Amino acid sequence: MNPSRSPAMTTEQINTALNLLRAGELVGIPTETVYGLAADASQPAAVAKIFAAKGRPADHPVIVHIAGAEQLADWAQNIPDEAYLLAEHFWPGPLTLILERQPHVSDSVTGGQNTVGLRAPAHPITHELLQQFGGGLAAPSANQFGHVSPTTFDHVRSEFSPEVLQLILDGGACDVGVESTIVSLVGDKPKLLRPGGVSREAIEAVLGDSLEHHTNQHSAKQRVSGLLDSHYAPRTQLITGDLLALHALAQQRLAQGQNIALLHYQSIEHEQTNWLNAQCYAMPQNAESYAQTLYATLRHLDLAGFNVLLLELPPTSKEWLAVHDRLHRAAHLKLGSNRIPI
Ligand code: TXA
Ligand code: MG
Repeated sequence: MNPSRSPAMTTEQINTALNLLRAGELVGIPTETVYGLAADASQPAAVAKIFAAKGRPADHPVIVHIAGAEQLADWAQNIPDEAYLLAEHFWPGPLTLILERQPHVSDSVTGGQNTVGLRAPAHPITHELLQQFGGGLAAPSANQFGHVSPTTFDHVRSEFSPEVLQLILDGGACDVGVESTIVSLVGDKPKLLRPGGVSREAIEAVLGDSLEHHTNQHSAKQRVSGLLDSHYAPRTQLITGDLLALHALAQQRLAQGQNIALLHYQSIEHEQTNWLNAQCYAMPQNAESYAQTLYATLRHLDLAGFNVLLLELPPTSKEWLAVHDRLHRAAHLKLGSNRIPI
């Protein structure tokens, strides 16, 4: 085992991480959703390094990670009661709140908007790091812009060279596996901007109110990178649809001599259709496990030399909302659309 990744090294690694962050350097951090690429949110030059490393457009805001609700007022102002209510129920956890920013919050963090995204992650290593750090850590997902988000140490290492990213804290595989739910509390009604680790129903139950639908016409669309189409995508062509449509396409691709992976949801053993020439991967049957393994599966298959990945869409019931959202953005081609509208 690599000694720099053993649990006994954690305290020392957290100290190294604190020194790097205070010196304006980047550190890879584990969270319960995906790994983040962190910098001190109060140092614009450090935040700029995140954008350079990711190849991310400069007007895209990044989430500021904090230890808990007691730090909300350090970053946000005119904070509505709903923010404290949601924080009480879901923090530390996979929920990001969009609030009016404090004037000192740098444009490099907010993308020049008058709002800031705040989240207290639940992963014990990062929670400990944030408590000791005391400030906020700007951290988008630790992947190149547009690529699949990382859910393990090795994923992050494969995205950034050691010259760009000296230290990645190893927190194991992420529990949730897809990014946080983003709720905006700016404006008249709370809005769901991105489905994620906390379900819409759980948030609505706490608020006693429905979350307004986010539509594609929403003015923030261009500024919220997670809402762009063609995000979270593997490099290998990914095609989603139902089994029948995928089978028809597979026949054409096989005739062209292509190497096909099929990621199926239903059992296909007793199907009439012949999938013998495709490598078949059974995806998990429940939404939580599916979300947990989705990005790792896409990354694994991306390295396996397939010409195309065919993915059978899972059910459209509400617990699959976040998974469908990510599949919709990851797919290069969609055969039919049984996407769940937000
Ligand atoms: O689970 C997560 O949220 C992960 C982990 C690392 O915490 N982070 C993450 O960051 O997904 P990122 O940058 O890949 O996506 C964050 C989303 C982006 O789409 C960003 O545009 C949006 O949050 N966001 C951040 N601040 C915002 C703001 N002030 N207004 C609207 N959207 C904002
Ligand atoms: Mg991201």
